[in-house]
This record gives sequence, structure tokens and C-alpha cells, in this order.
Amino acid sequence: MTYSRIAGTGSHLPEKVLTNHDLERMVDTSDQWIVERTGIRRRHLAAAGQTTCDLAEQAARRAMEAAAVRPADIDLVIVATTTPDRVFPSTACLLQARLELGDCPAFDVQAVCTGFVYALDVANRFIQTGGARCALVVGAETMSRIVDWSDRSTCILFGDGAGAVILRASDEPGIVSTHLHADGRYQHLLTTDGGVSDPPPGGNPHIRMSGNEVFRVAVNTLGAIVDETLAANGLEQGSVDWLVPHQANIRIIRATARKLGLPMERVIVTIEEQGNTSAASIPLALDTAVRDGRIRRGETLLLEAFGGGFTWGSALLVY
Ligand code: COA
Repeated sequence: MTYSRIAGTGSHLPEKVLTNHDLERMVDTSDQWIVERTGIRRRHLAAAGQTTCDLAEQAARRAMEAAAVRPADIDLVIVATTTPDRVFPSTACLLQARLELGDCPAFDVQAVCTGFVYALDVANRFIQTGGARCALVVGAETMSRIVDWSDRSTCILFGDGAGAVILRASDEPGIVSTHLHADGRYQHLLTTDGGVSDPPPGGNPHIRMSGNEVFRVAVNTLGAIVDETLAANGLEQGSVDWLVPHQANIRIIRATARKLGLPMERVIVTIEEQGNTSAASIPLALDTAVRDGRIRRGETLLLEAFGGGFTWGSALLVY
């Protein structure tokens, strides 16, 4: 059997930092409220002119270096993003050219905050069926471009960044199971007020969210996907080494960890410093914990995410 193994990880955060105290000067909020309700203290923002592809490029270069792969080795590029540089070409094609990868399939995946889990699943299927042997999978976002900076209920949440992994075909596990879901009936709870074919009233589209309802569905849905993933693999609560969750809200993360039977010491949390970077948050968290030595080869990781759509998903893998 052919598995997809993570051969290397990389990430990149833009230099500029926006603190909760900075936000206090922009909208009617407080550091205390934001920390208590979300766990966020700071987030990084792309500079003017700095694009999603710029962030993706840095993360991808680090992942390639960590995996010791050359541009010619890569035969598939998938970028998960909600905030592509352009309508087209895809950010994956822009990235492929930047990295001088040569001819290989390259495309974007749009599943908002679940985007990286979707992209990982797709790349895994390419590798398992022989369609690729070495895939570059990136989650990259400039969410700050679609944030309404006058809306205190959303502008406190989001940040920019990118994370990447190199997946290689291997006889050893690897990704052992993936579970993807979507339910478009919830589209109105977490959305933008327009797009390309349905333009927003005032120019650029902005995030609109019913935070409280999203919170409730997210906790229940992520609880259910923990059960689904454990059952599909015949695993007990507490038998996974690490939870690497999408970083939307520390209270959602805590609830999912409880469901998984893991103490918070076994959960990778970056939300305090990074906020919600949508599709970038899981590979950013993964790279952080790989580089600081917490996550080691042979350990079992559960990756999970929930986002607009609604979409949600998980990946269980041996690192
Ligand atoms: N600062 C201070 N007060 C704020 C505020 C802010 N930034 N944003 C909202 N409030 C106020 C509300 O106006 C409301 O006031 P009211 O009671 O006078 O009407 C009060 O705080 C409570 O609002 P509510 O929305 O019920 O708060 P909450 O506890 O649900 O927390 C979120 C709000 C957004 C932090 C929370 O709902 C959340 O994280 N939801 C999920 C969001 C998410 O994960 N989205 C992405 C999914 S990938």
C-alpha cells in the first residue's frame, strides 16, 4: 500500500503585528474581552502589496528545504486559500512559477478554514492512486484584505500567514484516514457580502458572521468528527499523541480536546500569537510544533478544521 508521508513542513508570518491594544483604538473592544472570548492577543498582517502568494512562497521554500526536495522533484501543487492574489490564474500556478517547479498539475482549493484539510485529502488521493509522488500542499491567506475593520465582532479574529507541507509517497504510514464534509445550507452564517459574479455593494467583499451560532455548530460538529475519526480507525479516546486544530477560538479548541480525551499539553495552540489565519492555521501550527521539537517522527496527529460553507474535516496521520 502507498501512503502519503509528511517529509517536511514550513511556514511564514508577515512582519507586521496588530495587538488587541491596537484594536482598542480602532473599534469599541478591549484586550480583556478578546482574550477571554477568543484566546487571541496578537495577529500578523500582510503589508501593503504583500500577497498570499508572497507568504505561500516563503512557507513553501522552508518546507522544501526541510524535506530536502528540489523543485524538479515536485509533481503536484495545491494551494488552499480563500484570498487568492487574483481571480485567475490560481495562486498555485503563480507559486509554481515563482518556485520554478516546471510542468505539473497546480490548482487552488477553496474550503475556507477547512481548506488545508481538503487540500491534504486531495493530494493524498493523487499519491495513493499513483498520480503524484511528491506534492507541495500549502495553506495561505491574507484574510486582512476581506476583514471589515469597523466590525468589532469579526475584525478581532483574523490574521494573515502561510504554512506548507511536502507529502511524499511511502510504504510507511503516513496519512491513515481523512474525513471531509460540507453543508451549504449554513452558508448565511459565515460568508462574505459579495464576490465576483455577485459584487458587494461597496467595492471589496467583507466577512459577515453570526459568531454565536457559528460557535455552537462548530463545537458540535468538531465533536462529531472526532468521534467519526476515532471510530473509523478503531481508536480510543486519548490514544492520539497530538491534536493540531484549526485555530478559530480557544474555547472551541478546548472543547475538541476534551472530546478527544487529550490534556491541553497535547494540543498545538498558536491562536494567541496568530489569530485565525483560515486555511493557513493548521500548517502554521504543525510547522511550529515540528520545529520546536514537540511533534516527533512516529507520533499520531489528528488535524481538524471547521469553516465557512459550512465545511469541516479531519486527517489522522503518523508524522
Ligand atoms: N469587543 C467587545 N464586545 C463585543 C465584541 C468585541 N470585539 N464583539 C462582540 N461584542 C459584544 C456583542 O455585541 C454582544 O453584546 P450584547 O450582549 O450587548 O449584544 C456581546 O459581546 C456578546 O456577543 P456574542 O457574539 O454572543 O459573543 P460570543 O461569546 O459568542 O463571542 C465570538 C463572539 C465571535 C468570539 C464567538 O462567537 C466565536 O468565536 N464564534 C465562532 C467564530 C469562528 O470561529 N469563526 C470562524 C470559524 S472558522
